[in-house]
Amino acid sequence: MAEKAWGGVFDQATDKRVEAFTESISFDRRLYAQDIEGSVAHAQMLAKVGLISAEECHQIEQGLAEIRQEIEQDRFSFRTELEDIHMHIESALVARIGDVGRKLHTARSRNDQVATDLRLWVRASIDQIDARLLELQRAFVSRCDRDADVILPGYTHFQRAQPVLAPHYWLAYCEKLERDRQRLADCRRRVNVLPLGAAALAGTSLPIDRAEVATRLTFEGIAANSLDAASDRDFAIEFAFALTLIAEHLSTWAEEWILWSTVEFNFIKLPQTFCTGSSIMPQKINPDVLELIRGKTARVVGNLQSLLVLVKGLPLAYNRDLQEDKEPLFDSFDTVRMALELAAPLAAGAELNRASILERLDRGHLDATTLMEHLIRRGIPQRTAHGLVGRLVRKALDRGCRLSDLTLDEFREAHPDLDESIYQVLGPEKAVAAMQSYGSTAPAQVQEQVERWKKRLDES
Ligand code: ARG
Repeated sequence: MAEKAWGGVFDQATDKRVEAFTESISFDRRLYAQDIEGSVAHAQMLAKVGLISAEECHQIEQGLAEIRQEIEQDRFSFRTELEDIHMHIESALVARIGDVGRKLHTARSRNDQVATDLRLWVRASIDQIDARLLELQRAFVSRCDRDADVILPGYTHFQRAQPVLAPHYWLAYCEKLERDRQRLADCRRRVNVLPLGAAALAGTSLPIDRAEVATRLTFEGIAANSLDAASDRDFAIEFAFALTLIAEHLSTWAEEWILWSTVEFNFIKLPQTFCTGSSIMPQKINPDVLELIRGKTARVVGNLQSLLVLVKGLPLAYNRDLQEDKEPLFDSFDTVRMALELAAPLAAGAELNRASILERLDRGHLDATTLMEHLIRRGIPQRTAHGLVGRLVRKALDRGCRLSDLTLDEFREAHPDLDESIYQVLGPEKAVAAMQSYGSTAPAQVQEQVERWKKRLDES
């Protein structure tokens, strides 16, 4: 029992199955850097308030630096009996520097320690995800000039609706990703609060200086309630939620491009380096990366669900259940990070099939709404104009032609006030050009937005 940090009160050894069941080292080892960073700051604070000497602090720092190297060079041995990353590092420290190492855990519990480690990890992970979101935004914006003159059918109910400029599509994703970035920034403010000093749950009778630790770890705030600090995992769940919405956005985009890359659509050609083949059908070039971006969204949603259920009904303060927070959180982070890393080159590298898009734009009467609005501008009530254009579309459908193929006589038959000017809004280019509201797909509006985005991304 001597080996266990908590072994004092026990006179029997732990069942091996219990060790295997309760360990977290298999997954919390990835917190080693945060654990050491937190311990260094804690030791420096202990020295500052006189709970350890400057020399002892130096030895602890030295020992921790060596342990860090060992872990990074894969020379560190991880053992299930030592439970978690905190015990591993502490026992390695004691093995290295003896009794001085036994002072590190002064005024600290693993409860506030793990909360601190996790906050440091989430904070760094937010920054990593944010940088990748920015890369993906750049990829979409980089397409805008290239595709400036391409008009795509816009859909509602997945039926052709109105024509839109391709850059308008790309910037729609930039806007969604921007809100994802804002959510992360907002979450980061609540993550960036120091729990250390809460100790097990009640604080400590020792004269610690929490502000000193907060400054050293660049936390913006100090948790004001020790019970809350030791039990709170909202910050991790918020991050998992922000990751889930990112995954949902990527999934929507992936679904769209999977459809666009089919022979049926033939709107887009994906870079071959991001496609895979079939083992039986030699002709296949499959969009597997996009499919897995869509597919892996399921596990990200599941992880969020796991976390929410995990904390449901936990009494204050720390409960071992909380150890289960890490795997879903790590998994969501890894999944979304990889998805973003693949999404950026894919988004930048795909080529639009202009000819095929143009061909499809011709059918579907995408200019019907603009025609209706043209009539409204001529004083015809909206409901009347709607019915009137509906009848004109019916006529075009029966004849198998476009609205612009109808003769002026046919338009006049529908309404005596109509004249040549109606042809100014017919056809996808004219329908797009006729737009003018803020945020619409009008070329001038889109260009303004493209410029705004370029400027914004240049600044970040
Ligand atoms: N491995 C634990 C976790 O992740 C560390 C905290 C354990 N604390 C305790 N009192 N057993 O939650």
